[in-house]
Amino acid sequence: MKLGDVIPNFSCDSDRGRIGSFHDWIGEGGWAILFSHPADFTPVCTTELARAAQLAPEFEKRGVKLIALSIDSSTSHREWIEDISAYAGDIEKEKFPFPIIADDSRHISESLGMIDPEEVNAQGIALSARAVLVIGPDRKLKLQILYPATTGRNFDEILRVVDSLLLTAKHKVATPVDWRAGDACMVQPTVTADEATVLFPAMEKRELPSGKEYLRMTPMPK
Ligand code: BEZ
Repeated sequence: MKLGDVIPNFSCDSDRGRIGSFHDWIGEGGWAILFSHPADFTPVCTTELARAAQLAPEFEKRGVKLIALSIDSSTSHREWIEDISAYAGDIEKEKFPFPIIADDSRHISESLGMIDPEEVNAQGIALSARAVLVIGPDRKLKLQILYPATTGRNFDEILRVVDSLLLTAKHKVATPVDWRAGDACMVQPTVTADEATVLFPAMEKRELPSGKEYLRMTPMPK
C-alpha cells in the first residue's frame, strides 16, 4: 500500500461476528485505524491492545474508529480479549472498545502488505507485522507505520499523528518535529506569501542564514 491508495474493501470475521464490508464498517465520512498483530496470546501484542483500549475514548472523541487484526480465529480472539482486559485493569471484557479481525487465512494481511517474512511461528509460517494504517474519509491511506514483531508501538504517538492528520486535512498547515495538539504549526510551503498573510494573519517568519522565507510559524488553527 502507498499513501493515497484506496484501501481494498474486504469482508472478514471478527470477535464480534462477521464484517460484511470493511468500507461500510468505516462508515460515511469517518476515519479509521487498522492495526495488525503477529499473533494472539503474545506478550507485546497484549500490552499494545490494552493501551489501545485505554486510549479508545480519545480516538472516539476525534471521530476515529479503531480495528485490530491478528492471524488467529475469532474464538481465539474472544479468549484473548479476557487477558487483554485483565491486563489493562480498567476495561470490562464485555465492553472491549473495538473489534479484532480474525485473519486466520492471512488473506487480509497478505493483501495489505502486513506480513513480516523475518518473523515466523513454530510451524515456520510468517506472522503479520505491527502495521498501523490510518484511513481517511475518502478510504485512502493517509499514514502507514510498520514495526517488526519484536518492537511494540506507542499508541500515544498514534494519537499524536491523528491530531496532525485531522488538522492538516482541514488547514494548509504542517506540524513540526515533536508537535503536539495546541502547539504552533508551520504554513505549508505551497502557500504563497500573499495567501499566507490572508489565511494566517498571526504568522511569524523565522530568519535563516539562507535568507529564504520558508520557516513560517502560525498558531494552531481552530
Ligand atoms: C509479542 O507480541 O510479544 C511477539 C509476537 C511475535 C514475535 C515476538 C514477540
